[in-house]
Amino acid sequence: MRKKIVAGNWKMNKNLEETGVLLSELKAKFKNTPSVEVIVAPTFTNLYYASQELKGCDILVAAQNMHQAEGGAFTGEISASMLKSVGVELVILGHSERRAYFGETNELLSEKVKTALRHDMTILFCFGEELEDRKSENHFSVVESQLKNALFDLNEDAWKNIVLAYEPVWAIGTGETASPEQAQEMHAFIRKTIANAYNTKLAEEVSILYGGSVKPNNATEIFAKPDVDGGLIGGASLNAESFIAIAEAL
Ligand code: PGA
Repeated sequence: MRKKIVAGNWKMNKNLEETGVLLSELKAKFKNTPSVEVIVAPTFTNLYYASQELKGCDILVAAQNMHQAEGGAFTGEISASMLKSVGVELVILGHSERRAYFGETNELLSEKVKTALRHDMTILFCFGEELEDRKSENHFSVVESQLKNALFDLNEDAWKNIVLAYEPVWAIGTGETASPEQAQEMHAFIRKTIANAYNTKLAEEVSILYGGSVKPNNATEIFAKPDVDGGLIGGASLNAESFIAIAEAL
């Protein structure tokens, strides 16, 4: 079912104490948010604490990454069942920082997606073109191949656990956003690509978030576009006031 979602990706920010402060500020605001799904993604060490703190409240907790294996000799890694055991049912996969700094490829992401699905987790799947791709007008084909190589071998039923997040790399953390028109154009293209690979019904039902320098002052315009179902927010999610303002713009 297509939902309106605002998700905060806290990246490698906020220690335990700071996490507590931000969560209590958000909890006070989002006790009951029937119209918008609110998700926060603290760092691994604070996931258990966050999931405990948010019990009985409508805010969901996501991990920022996970390993594709079920378990074993993978020093420093975290498995899907570990996440589930601390109450985490959602995971961000494919973030451009994971792709750029940790060498995550579409093929690896395809494995991670399948592992998360085996554990019935919901996946916030990130993808998006780099500046060079846009300059050379390859952005549509890059996005299409990211989707195809990581997701299009899934069966239709699996898509009920997938939320997409289109994040043009040139807009992440740069203060530069895609214009609302550029976001809409790409989101419509993504829906068309899914409709071609599967069917129109599935394409209409998948939630597609926009991410990349979403701030309180540009969220309203971006979220007003018909194929934009919400946002994945980095920098502006680290502050309760700006994250709440963005959620309210949805
Ligand atoms: P940003 O990050 O809002 O700071 O650009 C978005 C993201 O990385 O998901």
